[in-house]
Amino acid sequence: MKNIYVIGSMSVDLVVQAQKMPKKGETILGEQFFTTCGGKGANQAVAAARLGGQVKMVGAVGNDAYGEMIINNLQANHVDTSKINITDSASGTAHITLAENDNSIIVVPSANQLITTEQVDALFKEITEPGIILIQNEIPVHVIQHTIQNAPSDAIIIYNPAPFIEIDQTLLDRVDYFTPNETESSSMFGADYSDAIQQYPEKMIVTLGSQGAVYYDNELIEVPTKQVEVIDTTGAGDTFNGALAVALSEGKNLSEAIQFANQAASLSVQGIGAQGGMPMREEMI
Ligand code: RIB
Repeated sequence: MKNIYVIGSMSVDLVVQAQKMPKKGETILGEQFFTTCGGKGANQAVAAARLGGQVKMVGAVGNDAYGEMIINNLQANHVDTSKINITDSASGTAHITLAENDNSIIVVPSANQLITTEQVDALFKEITEPGIILIQNEIPVHVIQHTIQNAPSDAIIIYNPAPFIEIDQTLLDRVDYFTPNETESSSMFGADYSDAIQQYPEKMIVTLGSQGAVYYDNELIEVPTKQVEVIDTTGAGDTFNGALAVALSEGKNLSEAIQFANQAASLSVQGIGAQGGMPMREEMI
């Protein structure tokens, strides 16, 4: 089994549940408020570790109560935190409204902006065996580029381009897999992904929520997912990516790995909070 290295964001999610999304300029009453651990990088690390992956996290938190909460949570989920920097900035936060069976999120990156290329280089220096690198878009673009360009040549790179930011698309040539959802795919390539997905066979995996995922291998391959009762979709994409990394680390082929990732994501939406529904390996039956 290959080790999994997550280079990415860690945040505390400040979540409000309400009957509806407020309109611009409108004040409404919420029903419940809770804080929980999130951030796409940390979510993917926790998803992978719960499914049995050997996971190390690289990133930055603040020297504050949220930073402590983030690190304790990663350790409780058996993620190696030795490559996380504790900075003088505030820790990252995400401000989430859950309403109308959907979510809206504002991320304040704070310490997540302070991850450095030196941290990434230090990680690469200590990697001695082929591993899996999992990276997303909630850290500065120069760190994303540096990671992809300088990763060990035998590493498998999974790039989750979420949320959408402009990148140099030649980076996609070096990654082994990239996993936009429909919105991100549309921002990257336009509303119709059929040309782009053919350009990146067995590499571009578009996640489609309750419709599963698609990729191209001589033809468009649709990998459907189980229909379940949805409580909270926050973190479903992260669960998909963490699970994909675990499945690939175990040597599953792409089709099997996507089925595994779909199953994990469908379990994750049945719990509340980004990590609340993320399954343990025993639940993957
Ligand atoms: O993907 C879900 C995550 O996005 C949340 O946990 C929140 O932190 C935002 O970064």
